[in-house]
Amino acid sequence: MSSPPRAAEESAVQPVRLPDLAAWAADGKRLVMITAYDFPSAQIVDAAGVDMVLVGDSAANVVLGYPSTVAVSIDEMLVLVRAVRRGTRRPLLIADLPFGSYEVSDEDAVRTAVRFVKEGGADAVKLERGGTSVARAAAIVAAGIPVVGHVGLTPQTAVVLGGYRAQGRNTDAALQITRDALALEAAGCFCVVVEAVPAAVAAHVASLLAVPVVGIGAGRDVGGQVLVLHDMLGVTPGTPPRFVRRYAELRSTMTAAVRQYASDVRDGSFPTDAHTYPIAAEQLAAYLDVAPSPAT
Ligand code: KIV
Repeated sequence: MSSPPRAAEESAVQPVRLPDLAAWAADGKRLVMITAYDFPSAQIVDAAGVDMVLVGDSAANVVLGYPSTVAVSIDEMLVLVRAVRRGTRRPLLIADLPFGSYEVSDEDAVRTAVRFVKEGGADAVKLERGGTSVARAAAIVAAGIPVVGHVGLTPQTAVVLGGYRAQGRNTDAALQITRDALALEAAGCFCVVVEAVPAAVAAHVASLLAVPVVGIGAGRDVGGQVLVLHDMLGVTPGTPPRFVRRYAELRSTMTAAVRQYASDVRDGSFPTDAHTYPIAAEQLAAYLDVAPSPAT
């Protein structure tokens, strides 16, 4: 069967594959993951050359305005995943499984993961925690879908963890994170995200795992990094978590731009002639001849 026709430039793009990630990690190359939730941001992170794009359920807070990630639904996430798919050609596309969509049974987990691959176009899915999520990860992998694990601060269960705070800061908690990461690897995860864990603990976990550990607030001695796009671009309001480096201040740039637009509209300096469409003089004259006149 022949593949559909594509522009030469598009077909020249080599999508990132799982063996590429494994080989790069084995070569000591640090992997770059970032979130995206819509078509333009997907195009931007793709053009910037990241290796993996995560449609994180952080979308719940970041772009949907929910107070936590718990509320976001499969259908809401699917809309975002499809938009990101349309804007992504090279990076591996990972979809976060939302809270409540995989915890109850392996069947649920596989069914949800299949939807994200089949309807959303994701290459892989991510789920949070050790515990029952280990069996869910194994079931999804057995169904032929690549899985990313996520340990440490797992926002879907932040209430149980005592809030959005660093994890693994005592021996027992660090050991539990280590066991969870190892179990997720044994379940077949091709990558494990470690969030908000002391750098030394994350580094030790990374040294134990054969698959890459991608850190967020987990120091530099891991296999790669992930950040929330809106945090690193300075779109998210307020003080970011300490692990975020802000590479831009787009919130203030965007607010200033919209404020300027509002001012220009109000004082009549926008639009100018350059922003308007001309009409031939005779067409205008003919139009004004026949058009109703304003009431006097
Ligand atoms: O939902 C998300 O954006 C995430 C990353 C922070 C890893 O899970």
